[in-house]
Amino acid sequence: MPKHLIGIVDLTKEEILSILELGKIYKEKLIKNKNTISKNLRDRIVVNLFFEPSTRTRMSFEIAAELLGAKVINFSEQASSVQKGETKIDTLKTIEAMKTDFVVVRSNISGFPKLLAREITNTIVINGGDGSHEHPSQALLDTLTISEHFSDLSKVRLSIVGDILFSRVARSNIFLFRKLGNENVKVYGPSTLVPSGIEKLGVTVAKNLDEVFESSDVVMLLRIQTERQNFAYIPSFREYREFWGITQDKMVKYKGKKIFIMHPGPVNRGIEIDHDIVYCSNSLILDQVTSGVAVRMAIFTYFLNVNSTS
Ligand code: CP
Repeated sequence: MPKHLIGIVDLTKEEILSILELGKIYKEKLIKNKNTISKNLRDRIVVNLFFEPSTRTRMSFEIAAELLGAKVINFSEQASSVQKGETKIDTLKTIEAMKTDFVVVRSNISGFPKLLAREITNTIVINGGDGSHEHPSQALLDTLTISEHFSDLSKVRLSIVGDILFSRVARSNIFLFRKLGNENVKVYGPSTLVPSGIEKLGVTVAKNLDEVFESSDVVMLLRIQTERQNFAYIPSFREYREFWGITQDKMVKYKGKKIFIMHPGPVNRGIEIDHDIVYCSNSLILDQVTSGVAVRMAIFTYFLNVNSTS
């Protein structure tokens, strides 16, 4: 078991299943009675070190840590000595010297959490999403959500639709499903946003949205990440909605089929997904958010145990 959670790529199938099992227990407690959650992180300190905006990931790590009894510090780059020229590595070393237990890192630089993890010895690094590389806690919470509807995760037909090229969510989910032995993952999006050679990761590329809908149990939509794109990869948002977006009209065509809609958020309403579909009866989007708190409690508990026994 790795000391830090940097990527799904570093985990074994057994480790993934153990975290999911723990996540399932936490989700039940979270929904039924939060008071039954053991304070496994009492006297521990968790720092949220976010260099990129976030609502779901930052808040759910914070809620998860507090439910487990930890103290949480939310680092603010704007109010920190980074503004005076301190490097991010020196910032992390400074945070570690304050005897913190976990640092949850989000950065727009792919590979940044791995770099930080190499520099420190006593604080556990959790990747909260790095550039276009990985978002491991997102893939774990997505899988926990899906597992509540399917008994065999290796058989679920998952399609990931949208900006695959820049998506850390797509990469982590592909790695995770492949580790579980799933050979039914498809991707689909504008050809400019589907990396050439992605089949090498063990997925197939769908030809059109009809193929996606006809052959999927779960359709996971992704946001167009304009903040990572340095030139136009799509003609316009209007055309994106028409050709790649999930619209009310397209859903009506497959009304008889039970297809779950997922989205990691934040959602671009009216672009990759129509307003009426965001919270429709097939949508798991808000349940993903609830799973996020549970999975992040599981991650803290699991990695604390690993590091205590190693
Ligand atoms: N899914 C996700 O990472 O959302 P946030 O950017 O709001 O954390």
